[in-house]
Amino acid sequence: MAGINNIIEVSGLVKKFGSLAAVDGVTFDVPEGEFFGFLGPNGAGKTTLIRMLTTLLKPTGGRAVVAGIDVSASPQEVRKKIGVVPQALTSDLDLTGYENMDLYGRFYSIPSRERREKIKNLFEIIGLSNRQNDLVATYSGGMRRRLEIARVLVHAPTVLFLDEPTIGLDPQSRRAVWEFLEKFRKEYSLTIFLSTHYMEEAESLCDRLAIIDNGKIIVLDSPDRLKSELPGNDIIHLTLSDLSMISPVEDKIKGLAFVHNVVAEGEDLRVFVENGAVNFTPLLESVKEAGGIVNSVGIHQLSMEDVFIHHTGKSIREEGGKKVNFFVGAGLPQKLSR
Ligand SMILES: Nc1ncnc2c1ncn2[C@@H]1O[C@H](COP(=O)(O)OP(=O)(O)OP(=O)(O)O)[C@@H](O)[C@H]1O
Ligand SMILES: [Mg+2]
Repeated sequence: MAGINNIIEVSGLVKKFGSLAAVDGVTFDVPEGEFFGFLGPNGAGKTTLIRMLTTLLKPTGGRAVVAGIDVSASPQEVRKKIGVVPQALTSDLDLTGYENMDLYGRFYSIPSRERREKIKNLFEIIGLSNRQNDLVATYSGGMRRRLEIARVLVHAPTVLFLDEPTIGLDPQSRRAVWEFLEKFRKEYSLTIFLSTHYMEEAESLCDRLAIIDNGKIIVLDSPDRLKSELPGNDIIHLTLSDLSMISPVEDKIKGLAFVHNVVAEGEDLRVFVENGAVNFTPLLESVKEAGGIVNSVGIHQLSMEDVFIHHTGKSIREEGGKKVNFFVGAGLPQKLSR
């Protein structure tokens, strides 16, 4: 099953916390050099999966091989091959950006000259050369995140794991992270494994992505193919003025020839249609006939969000309020045995 060039091979991986299967029998491979993503809502099992792949958590069952090494059998060996950026921010606020990177390099016993050169190059890529001697306490959230991503590349890993790397960042900082992840990938021939609950992020970065919900992979493919497999090509999004209208309206419009699927959430209806521009008016007439009063209406082309909704019947809410804990962790990886 596993090809020679797969840098990550996962089969039947399970993690249980008591009776809860946080990761529930997950199987996939990632070829070398791929930008691979896990997209899923809060509690889907993304962090648990990453923690198993990066040797921080022992699987309850199944198998995971990273860079040719079994994560359960030889965790120390795996750690030398990977860079891990956890969900929480972990750099030391009382040190400068340079010192944070340097400490990390020393930890991995990178010789001083090589360390200096590598760190210089990394600061250039993340565009923070002029801030490298400032305390991290003076960095913005986006700058700190950039530093933390670059930091784990000091020891030249072959696989980079990122758990929701742009959570809590403003759109501009998020884009900056996307850009230099691409640069890192090219410059260091990295394989990148990323988890996210941002649709746009998954779509713009990932060669392939797995949609995960309740610990299970629901679909896995390239963003383009995931979208092209959906019925129809446009979404008409309706908000009705009253919850009681949803059911009769849904029944009525499901019968229309150009309607492929209807997903209701509260007062909202998401209608998967053929040729939205042409069928917009007939749809609204049909809604009216069924007694529906429309509060707002919009039309858009299929997005990753619609892919998720199509497969799970619910939307991933991009919660603005989700916070990253700024004070978790000491900023250093687990000790390597020498
Ligand atoms: N140490 C633990 N003990 C008990 N339950 C846990 C533990 N860690 C995670 N869980 C549970 O496992 C499930 C998956 O959690 P996980 O953190 O992997 O999700 P996630 O996809 O990373 O979510 P988020 O987007 O919020 O970070 C959740 O139901 C969570 O409550
Ligand atoms: Mg998580």
